[in-house]
Amino acid sequence: MGKLDGKVAVITGSARGIGKADALLFAQEGACVVVSDVDREPLVATAKEIEAAGGKVAWCIADVTKPEDTDKLMDTAVDIFGDLNILVNNAGIARDALLHKMTDTQWDMCLDIILKGTFNCVRSAAKYMMKKGHGGKIINTASVMGLMGNVGQVNYTAAKAGVIGLTKTVAREWARFGVNCNAIAYGFVHTRFTAEKETGEEVAGEKMGIPRKVRDRMLQEIGGKAITPEDAAKPALFLASVDSDFITGHVLNVSAGMYM
Ligand SMILES: NC(=O)c1ccc[n+]([C@@H]2O[C@H](COP(=O)([O-])OP(=O)(O)OC[C@H]3O[C@@H](n4cnc5c(N)ncnc54)[C@H](O)[C@@H]3O)[C@@H](O)[C@H]2O)c1
Repeated sequence: MGKLDGKVAVITGSARGIGKADALLFAQEGACVVVSDVDREPLVATAKEIEAAGGKVAWCIADVTKPEDTDKLMDTAVDIFGDLNILVNNAGIARDALLHKMTDTQWDMCLDIILKGTFNCVRSAAKYMMKKGHGGKIINTASVMGLMGNVGQVNYTAAKAGVIGLTKTVAREWARFGVNCNAIAYGFVHTRFTAEKETGEEVAGEKMGIPRKVRDRMLQEIGGKAITPEDAAKPALFLASVDSDFITGHVLNVSAGMYM
């Protein structure tokens, strides 16, 4: 018996990183999973990996900043697997700069993908989840940076703090439909997001990652305990399962003590 048997889950930004680990774990626990991203090649590879492990999976290219894409994503889940029970809003990006040097493009990109993208997905899920007795689980990906602030991340921290406010409002508005909406505030998870910036992957014209010195200091503060994506997926499974049926509007701190 899997913890998510019979459930249908949509996970945004699941071509790699935390979203991919969520998708693999959810499928292993019996969910039918729709993986989704803007990057086709790693997305298809993720879907193949899930299938090879015996999971039920479909993939859908969707840019969370576009409402027509997020509508298509939720429709895909229902068309292929017959329902929509779990939504993980995980797609995200960082565009770091000190406030006085931050460009409009950097600000808009973070707010559009993280905050508007989460809003778009929840709104697109409404026609399936806002039904008496339907129920459902929404898990929004926040960050401890949205709780504590971070030098060079005014856009990212504002977006993630916004996600926390959105989470609590959805929890209140959709409680009567039996939908739980929670957020996870991750700390330092090993992905391209937290790789060394000096050798980091370039995404849309900017290097991903954290400058080596800052990264070393951050890791030192948590005793070197960086979280793996697979470990990051476990609290998401908890919030997607019946084990958390009475938890809603909560921000789960998964930071190995980076923030307390
Ligand atoms: N890694 C960490 O330490 C950490 C800490 C706190 C929060 N987070 C959050 O966790 C989430 C996942 O991050 P990750 O570390 O796995 O990063 P990642 O870069 O490995 O994965 C993010 C995914 O989102 C996708 N994406 C970007 N823009 C998109 C869009 N417009 N539409 C759809 N997909 C899009 C990317 O293509 C990528 O596959 C993000 O929301 C991030 O802010 C990460």
